[in-house]
Amino acid sequence: MQTITLDGYAEVREAYRQHDLEQALYDAGGVVMADSLLVLHGAEHRRRRRVENRLFRRGTFRYWEKAFLRDVVRDTLAPFRAAGRADLLEIGYRTIMSLTAMVAGIDRPTGSDAETDQLYRLAKKFSEGATMVHTTRDPAVVRAEVQAALDDFDRVFLQPSITRRRALLDRFAAGGIDEDDLPRDVLTALLRHGEELGVDEDVVRRECAFYLQAGSHSTADAFSHAADDWFAWAARDPDAADRARRDPALLQRCVYETLRLHPASPVAQRRALAPVTLRGGTEIPEGSFVVLDIAGANRDPRVFDRPEEYDPLREVPADVPRWGHAFGGGMHACIGTELAGGVPAPADPTPEQAHEQVLGTVTLLLDALLTAGARPDPDDPPRRDPHSARDHFAAYPVLFAPG
Ligand code: HEM
Repeated sequence: MQTITLDGYAEVREAYRQHDLEQALYDAGGVVMADSLLVLHGAEHRRRRRVENRLFRRGTFRYWEKAFLRDVVRDTLAPFRAAGRADLLEIGYRTIMSLTAMVAGIDRPTGSDAETDQLYRLAKKFSEGATMVHTTRDPAVVRAEVQAALDDFDRVFLQPSITRRRALLDRFAAGGIDEDDLPRDVLTALLRHGEELGVDEDVVRRECAFYLQAGSHSTADAFSHAADDWFAWAARDPDAADRARRDPALLQRCVYETLRLHPASPVAQRRALAPVTLRGGTEIPEGSFVVLDIAGANRDPRVFDRPEEYDPLREVPADVPRWGHAFGGGMHACIGTELAGGVPAPADPTPEQAHEQVLGTVTLLLDALLTAGARPDPDDPPRRDPHSARDHFAAYPVLFAPG
């Protein structure tokens, strides 16, 4: 089968928007990804996305950020600060696990750290299953481990969450409670609209597992890279890095620059359902495989001046987000962009705009980390993930300044 690789910024953007290019990255990851939002296409994707999108309405995450996100970050960091050391992946996962569980609709009966860690281990396994295409381990072994994790997840977390929601939906149907009393999460939406969407409990299980891994892995990865990039910047240009540390809008730009340089998904893959011709003349024959090289397109010198350089203060064209294609585009554009990345601050915000600004979880995490005086542990350097061809840290030990 012919494979066509696109690595220019503009052609990747155009390819994302082609309705005749369907998702093809997760064929190998079916054990957790089959029938999930990210692999659906056409009308089926549109119907599912419309139902799930309602939870991600503009303003929801602004409210979350104002109401409790900072507390979640502070509470997650507290025991690590007290111990004087932490691993960035662990901080990232612990924070985002609670948030993605809320989004997915997975109840946390105890809310304990042990429970968060259990969810985190499951999400990591789901993530390994979803990105099977990049694994360097035996795929059959990975698949069996992922299936075992799905069974555990179902028993410990999903079934109790379903039971509680079904009871609420029954009361709602009987007029006992209002719509506003129903949880606003993916699981409730799927149970409520399951029939019209044609989803059974197996699909519901995989969709919730997919959400847990989609949100958590990418956010923890972005956080570890954002800190790593900032530490390196602080060593090269301490004054500029320190200015950014004190200004949340600049710190958000640091995160966007990291996302551009280290997108959690370095490639997207699509399959051509019909022949497609891109504006620049690239012909994509029907049936061919299309690799969207996100990491490459995010370093396109026609769009990003000095593309290899980490420069959070860089200028970018008005129609280009600072993160490039890190959140994808077109029909599968990341539904969690605002939760993870916030909303870009305008250049010179009015006090009202500054007040309304949504920083996003990764910036909140980085802000809290740097404010706590974290620095890489000189005796325990960060390690890359040996089981993935992707650019991920497996461990990133840091020390905190004495409190
Ligand atoms: C820094 C953090 C994140 C990054 C870099 C990221 C990146 C992406 C990318 C690149 C895609 C599109 C993949 C493709 O086209 O093949 C995507 C889709 C998606 N993301 Fe994210 N994501 C992040 C955080 C989140 C969070 C926090 C959630 C949920 C709580 C989430 C949920 C989703 C979902 C559900 C989709 C599928 C959308 C669809 O197919 O319609 N993501 N993400």
